[in-house]
Amino acid sequence: MSGHSSYVPSTGFEKWLDRRLPIIRFMHAETSGFPCPKNLSYFWTFGAILTFMLVVQIITGIVLVMHYTPHTDMAFASVEHIMRNVNYGWLLRYVHANGASMFFIAVYIHMFRGLYYGSYKEPREVLWILGVIIFLLMMATAFMGYVLPWGQMSFWGATVITNLFSALPLVGEPVVQWLWGGFAVDNPTLNRFFSLHYLLPFMILGVVILHIWALHVAGNGNPTGVSVKSKQDTVPFHPYVTMKDGFALVCFLIFFAYFVFYIPNYLGHADNYIPADPLVTPAHIVPEWYFLPFYAILRAVPDKLGGVLLMFGAIAVLFILPWLDTSKVRSAAFRPLYKQAFWIFVVVCIALGWLGGQPAEGGYVIAARIFTFLYFAFFLIVMPLLGIIETPKKLPESISQSVLEKAKALGSGGAAQPAGSAAAPDKNA
Ligand code: HEM
Repeated sequence: MSGHSSYVPSTGFEKWLDRRLPIIRFMHAETSGFPCPKNLSYFWTFGAILTFMLVVQIITGIVLVMHYTPHTDMAFASVEHIMRNVNYGWLLRYVHANGASMFFIAVYIHMFRGLYYGSYKEPREVLWILGVIIFLLMMATAFMGYVLPWGQMSFWGATVITNLFSALPLVGEPVVQWLWGGFAVDNPTLNRFFSLHYLLPFMILGVVILHIWALHVAGNGNPTGVSVKSKQDTVPFHPYVTMKDGFALVCFLIFFAYFVFYIPNYLGHADNYIPADPLVTPAHIVPEWYFLPFYAILRAVPDKLGGVLLMFGAIAVLFILPWLDTSKVRSAAFRPLYKQAFWIFVVVCIALGWLGGQPAEGGYVIAARIFTFLYFAFFLIVMPLLGIIETPKKLPESISQSVLEKAKALGSGGAAQPAGSAAAPDKNA
């Protein structure tokens, strides 16, 4: 692991423990003493925000389970019981439900940051791949969590998505019945989804630990993409990064609180306040907003198996991303063509998200096909090609040099002098 430890045990107990289990030394090296590039922007605060959100989801989830009943006859009523009778149950539930959305907002920003700054490139390929695994686990967890209140969208969402597996040749039908634990989405399905919804967050936690371990081996990237060359390029994690992460977290929590306290159902679907009814199909079955781009890709293809393969392909392509990008330069700040391609890609993802919420008919389907093509073209055509044809801008010699140049451009001359302190006496003299 990187991060040289300057830890000196101070108390007698610390000295005793350090010789037997140097856990405090380890924590010090990996946290407060860990050197971070001094030019990290606020886009580097989302990892900490995500870690915080994971803990929030696990704690609120554990307390919700104390009052929830995973049975088709009682699940819906038990959620209503939490909302009405349990002390602060409404708060727990709204924090957990909106927390899932906040988690996805943060993870999408975190991932797009990675795409913009080339965070997936050598030597951070494994770090990125672990991130994609986390993303897959998050999607599975959120999908199964949405089934638990046993409302109309829970039931029909589960039915549509599990049915996708029936498209598999030969084994399709048996696989779907195996997933359901019967011949339809029913009590065994709800029970296993509950069990897995409880288990997966802890698996996410395990992969997050590996993710942060990999981060601490390779070290943080930074907005220039230029590697750390000397100690001068870095600042200790504490207090510099902890303060910045803390401030960003507070801003994020204000945004989160606005949803919880003012518009708690804004991101949900009204139909999920109707108990699940296998005999009544809702007019439009729509997943949660964070699945919509993938849902649009699924429905863009006329063939069921093709749609399923393309939808999974949309995530699978992220695994090989480090090898699709052929550019030697990491950061889009120095890649004029890639920068444009990146922003077009952002628009493509938003457009797919919007289309995923529209009915799968007429012009919507045609538009979804065009944007699906553009989605894959970004990874499979643009990324490999741009690295070859693009002429990147000149990179700064070091992180320190780029910071000083920025400071000069802002007019401070690179010196951190408060106005009127050192210069004023000279003028007066
Ligand atoms: C529960 C979800 C996640 C947690 C808790 C988490 C945590 C973190 C933390 C604490 C950092 C360091 C600070 C920062 O760069 O923001 C980080 C960096 C990173 N994460 Fe994640 N992450 C998560 C999901 C993901 C996902 C889904 C991806 C990509 C698919 C990803 C890719 C990366 C990469 C490439 C870096 C290094 C960035 C750099 O230093 O330039 N992470 N993550």
